[in-house]
Amino acid sequence: MTFNNAAADEDVNPLADPEERPAPPAVFIIFGASGDLTSRKLMPAIERLALRRLLPPGFAVVGVARTEMNDDDFRERMRELVEKGGGGGAEARHVWDSFVGAFRYIAGDYDDPDTFERLKDVLAELDNERGTAENRLYYLATPPSTFPTVIKGLAAHDLNRPTSDDAFVRIVIEKPFGHDLQTALDLDATVHEAFDESQVYRIDHYLGKETVQNVLALRFANAAFEPTWNRRYIDHIQITVAESIGVEHRGSFYEQAGALRDIVQNHVMQVLSMTLMEPPVTFDADGIRDEKVKALKAVEILTPEKVKQQVVRAQYARGWVGGDEVIGYREEEGVNPHSTTETYVAMKLRVDNWRWAGVPVYVRTGKRLPKRVTEVALQFKRVPHLPFAPEMVKDLEADSIVLRIQPDEGITLRFGAKVPGQAFRVRSVSMDFFYGAAFLEETPDAYERLLLDALIGDATLFIRSDEVEQAWHIVDPLLQAWEHEDVPLATYESGTWGPGEADDLMAADDRRWRRP
Ligand code: NDP
Ligand code: BG6
Repeated sequence: MTFNNAAADEDVNPLADPEERPAPPAVFIIFGASGDLTSRKLMPAIERLALRRLLPPGFAVVGVARTEMNDDDFRERMRELVEKGGGGGAEARHVWDSFVGAFRYIAGDYDDPDTFERLKDVLAELDNERGTAENRLYYLATPPSTFPTVIKGLAAHDLNRPTSDDAFVRIVIEKPFGHDLQTALDLDATVHEAFDESQVYRIDHYLGKETVQNVLALRFANAAFEPTWNRRYIDHIQITVAESIGVEHRGSFYEQAGALRDIVQNHVMQVLSMTLMEPPVTFDADGIRDEKVKALKAVEILTPEKVKQQVVRAQYARGWVGGDEVIGYREEEGVNPHSTTETYVAMKLRVDNWRWAGVPVYVRTGKRLPKRVTEVALQFKRVPHLPFAPEMVKDLEADSIVLRIQPDEGITLRFGAKVPGQAFRVRSVSMDFFYGAAFLEETPDAYERLLLDALIGDATLFIRSDEVEQAWHIVDPLLQAWEHEDVPLATYESGTWGPGEADDLMAADDRRWRRP
């Protein structure tokens, strides 16, 4: 079945599963084709989309980077990557062979106009030879410092606009989008000089995770939860994004980023806005993004004084993780031995709106914590009156609902139940829903899902410019305070749940961090 037939089928079948919508003919142009992201995420995602028959015959890939390679070298390199990543097998080889002929590579610097001239020629060739219909999806998998150069290069060579009414030109921009609020605004201005906002797909791979999307399903498809999802019933919220890995080979990148820019400004803000947002009127890109922006606008902007009181930053020291002894952050390759870059952040935020007034949100993220876990936990208030003697409920915690984003994707409800036996004792128990057990399907990888969405033109799971800006409004005062005020940097032993200062932050409110 060709794409055009598929599109026609979709037109007459409004119940067609959107998940199975194939991509239209297009050229996927990767700036940064010799880099880490391309090899670890983009190529495997392309391979899986091809295996799921979601890429049409008129699909081509053009890689652009400085490393010297010809088309065949590039094809071979991509094949090796995919096979190394667990792809391969007879079927995969067959599919791969059928479309790898449409892979091209351009070796060139983004500063050099000739790179874009050659790109233009290759795109025209592919339209003629492979039927790619003048559709383009550019992907900026390059260091953020080169984003403006590539964007300006595309515009200077008229590669930023569709060449016919039926064609599309879109651009996917990787994180981080800006280094702080001002640079994000500057980058946005550069983007908008070349592209209309409708062409721009700012990616945050957390939005491609099934379980992040499940926050919306849980909240807005069920009558059971939403009525309690507010200040009347919720005592506080905890968001945890914990990683057991260190900075690995990305030390020099991480030195410029730190946990606040790397995780909080994007992944945490996305999960936070989906947790806090009001129900959207419609489940479309702008319906959802309007509500997310409104939620972020309600988050307290911290003064320098409050940064000192409500935010903890820290760096990992040596320790043990998963039975292995690991080095401290300052000993990592590419890291300044006197670095003050944070690898851990914990903070308390207030949300000033009708739904959440008085419900603090505690956020923590860090590298070299005991395990990899991302979760959102909503802790309920205690019942107004407990008609039990204290010894009957000594093992009863406050009820909670925990959205486990990864791993062990699912939902846990903690509530009190009677302990069997003659005595009347109540203890907290868990009711667990495991995604993997309920749906025996393999969930698509985040990049696979998001690439297909960008090819189809569905921007729901991409970040709009006002969302990025609002997230920076929240994060920027922390960066400013850390730079200009005397804010201490704590340390924590690798393999622990962070510095004691983060526990003190909770203890000051008579609360404690969950042990995920
Ligand atoms: P790498 O450093 O591994 O790759 C950078 C790529 O850009 C290389 O292909 C390099 O080509 C190319 N490049 C850099 N400068 C130029 C230039 N002046 N002209 C031409 N090509 C150039 O980076 P990553 O793949 O790790 O990251 C890419 C982007 O993705 C970044 O924005 C990063 O923040 C983001 N990201 C990465 C993640 C990851 O896990 N790696 C996760 C989330 C986001 P060459 O080496 O051939 O010169
Ligand atoms: C990336 C960060 O955006 O997300 C990395 O740059 C981090 O530092 C990664 O390790 C975490 O992603 P995931 O999907 O493993 O939670």
